[in-house]
Amino acid sequence: AITVDPAAKGAEIDDTMYGVFFEDINRAADGGLYAELVQNRSFEYSTADNTSYTPLTSWTVDGAAQAVNDDGRLNERNRNYLSLGAGSSVTNAGYNTGIRVEQGKRYDFSVWARAESGTTLTVTLQDAAGTLATARQVAVKGGWAKYKATFTATRTSNRGRLAVASSNAAALDMVSLFPRDTYKNQPNGLRKDLAEKIAALRPGFVRFPGGCLVNTGSMEDYSEASGWQRKRSYQWKDTIGPVEQRATNSNFWGYNQSYGLGYYEYFRFSEDVGAMPLPVVPALVTGCGQNKATDDEALLQRHIQDTLDLIEFANGPATSKWGKVRAEMGHPKPFHLTHIGVGNEENLPHEFFARFQKFRAAIEAKYPDITVVSNSGPDDSGTTFDTAWKLNREGDVDMVDEHYYNNPQWFLQNNDRYDSYDRNGPKVFLGEYASQGNAWKNALAEAAFMTGLERNADVVKLASYAPLLANEDYVQWRPDMIWFNNRASWGSANYEVQKLFMNNVGDRVVPSKATTTPDVSGPIAGAVGLSTWATSAAYDDVKVTAADGSTLLSDDFSGDASKWKHVGGGSWSVQDGQYVQTDTAAENTMVTAGDPAWQDYDLHVKATKKSGK
Ligand code: AHR
Repeated sequence: AITVDPAAKGAEIDDTMYGVFFEDINRAADGGLYAELVQNRSFEYSTADNTSYTPLTSWTVDGAAQAVNDDGRLNERNRNYLSLGAGSSVTNAGYNTGIRVEQGKRYDFSVWARAESGTTLTVTLQDAAGTLATARQVAVKGGWAKYKATFTATRTSNRGRLAVASSNAAALDMVSLFPRDTYKNQPNGLRKDLAEKIAALRPGFVRFPGGCLVNTGSMEDYSEASGWQRKRSYQWKDTIGPVEQRATNSNFWGYNQSYGLGYYEYFRFSEDVGAMPLPVVPALVTGCGQNKATDDEALLQRHIQDTLDLIEFANGPATSKWGKVRAEMGHPKPFHLTHIGVGNEENLPHEFFARFQKFRAAIEAKYPDITVVSNSGPDDSGTTFDTAWKLNREGDVDMVDEHYYNNPQWFLQNNDRYDSYDRNGPKVFLGEYASQGNAWKNALAEAAFMTGLERNADVVKLASYAPLLANEDYVQWRPDMIWFNNRASWGSANYEVQKLFMNNVGDRVVPSKATTTPDVSGPIAGAVGLSTWATSAAYDDVKVTAADGSTLLSDDFSGDASKWKHVGGGSWSVQDGQYVQTDTAAENTMVTAGDPAWQDYDLHVKATKKSGK
C-alpha cells in the first residue's frame, strides 16, 4: 500500500527541471536536425575528419571537376571550392538514401559561383526514375556571388540527387538545398519533424552542443598560425555569422561538422521551444579519456575571453560588440542566458578545477547573475568522482554536472541516489543519463529512477536523457531518444517516458510511503527477437511497429546487412537499397538486430515486396 500525506511539504520542482541534451553525435546535426539536404556542400570534407573522406565525398563528377584549395577561394575560412569544367556537371547524393523531397513542397537552392559572363548553370533534381522538379537555369556573371533558385517537387522521393551543370568553366562553393518548410519557418532552419518531436517534450532547457565533442581535441583556433587545425574543440565563434564564412571542423564522433547549425541557431531553437539555453564551453582540460591539460596561459585567457564574449553575444545590447553580431544575424533582443557549463567529463579533477576556477572568477566578476556549472568527471562514483565532488564542494560551486550510463537494474537499485546528498552543497545537473537500451524495460527503469530525481528536486535541479538524436545509418552511440533517417523520425519508448514526465512537471513533491519495497535484485524481463518470413524476395522500407502502432525500427536498407540476422539458412545481402535474397532457399527468418538489446514487445513487421523481384 502507498500512503500519502497531502499536508506534508516535499521539495519544490522547478519548471526547468527536465530538459534535452543535444549533441552532434550520430549525425544529429548535418543530415539531421539541420535541414540542409546537400552533404559536403562546401567541399571541405577531409581525411582529417574521417579517413574515408575526400573533398568530393557525396559528389559524383561527369566531365572535368576537382576540389581546389588556392587563393581563388570564397573566403579564408572556407578553404576549398569546386572548379568545374565547361560542359561538365557534379551531382550530390545527400544523406542516407539520398535527398528527400515531397510532392508539392518547395526547395530553395543556392550556390556561390564565379565564372565569365555568359555562363549558365543548369540545376536539376532527379532520382533513378526521372526528374523530381522542373530544372532551373542560373546565369552567372563575374566574381564570387550568391545565386538562388526555387524548386517545387513534382514527385515524392527518398532518393533524390541534386545536379549542377555548367556551360563554361566555373568555380562553385556552398551548393545548398533547403526545404522551404523548416521548423517555425526559420531561415537556415531546422528539420521540422525532428524539431517538433523535441518541442513536444516541452523541454525546460537545451544543453548544447556536447558532450565529448566540446571538450576534446586541439584548443587552437582555425587559422594559418595553427596550421588550419581540424580536430579542434567546439569553439562558438567558429559557428556564427554567414554560413559561408563559418569554419568547418572534424567532429569528435568521426565525421565533418559544417557548423551550419551553430550557436545562433542553438539559441534560437531554445527560444522557439520555450527552453532555457545551456551552452557548454571547453575547459582547456580535455575530457572523454584524453586526459590532457593545457598549460598555455595565453590560450586559456583567450578561451576565458571567448566565454565572456559568448555571454555578451547571448545577452548584450545590440549596441555591444557581440550583441551587434547577434542583432545582425536577425535577433536584436537578448537570448536570456542564465547558466553556462564549463567542461565535460574531465578525468583530471585537480587540473580541471584549477582552470574552472579561473573561468568562474572571470564570469562572476563581469556577470554575477550567471550560474557557472562545473562537473564531476565521467563516472557515477569512484576516486575521480569523489575528488571532483570534494573540490566542487570546497570550492562552493553552484551546480555540478553528473553523467552516467548504466543498466536498467542499476537505475532501479539507485532510486535513492540523491536522498543522501548534502542539502547545503552544490546543486546537481544530471546532464546525461540513460539505461543501456531502447526497450520498454529500459524506459520503465528510467521512469522509476526519475521519481527519485523528483523526490530530490531540492538538490537535482536539472536533468536530461542522452543522447537525444540518432540517424539510423550513422550510429556511434546507442541507445538514443529519437531516431530518424532522411524521411521519417520516431521516438523510442524512452522518449515516451521523458515526454510523460516533461509534460507533467509538478510544483511540489507530496511525500509518500510504500509498505513494501519492490524486489529489484534479479534480472528484469528477458528480451525477445522479432522475425518475419520470406520466400524469394527483395525488401524495401521494412517497418517494425509496437502493438500501439508506434514505430520501433524502420530500415530502407541503404546500410549494411549486418543490421539483420537470419535463422533457417539462405543468403541475403543489401543491394541498391534493397534487402535481397541471393539464393533459392525456401524459407528464411529475418530477425532484427537493430538494437542489440532486442525488443520485448508484441511486434509486427510490415515488408513491402519490391516490384519486379
Ligand atoms: O552522450 C554521449 C557521450 O557520453 C557524451 O558526448 C559524453 O559527455 C558522454 O561520455
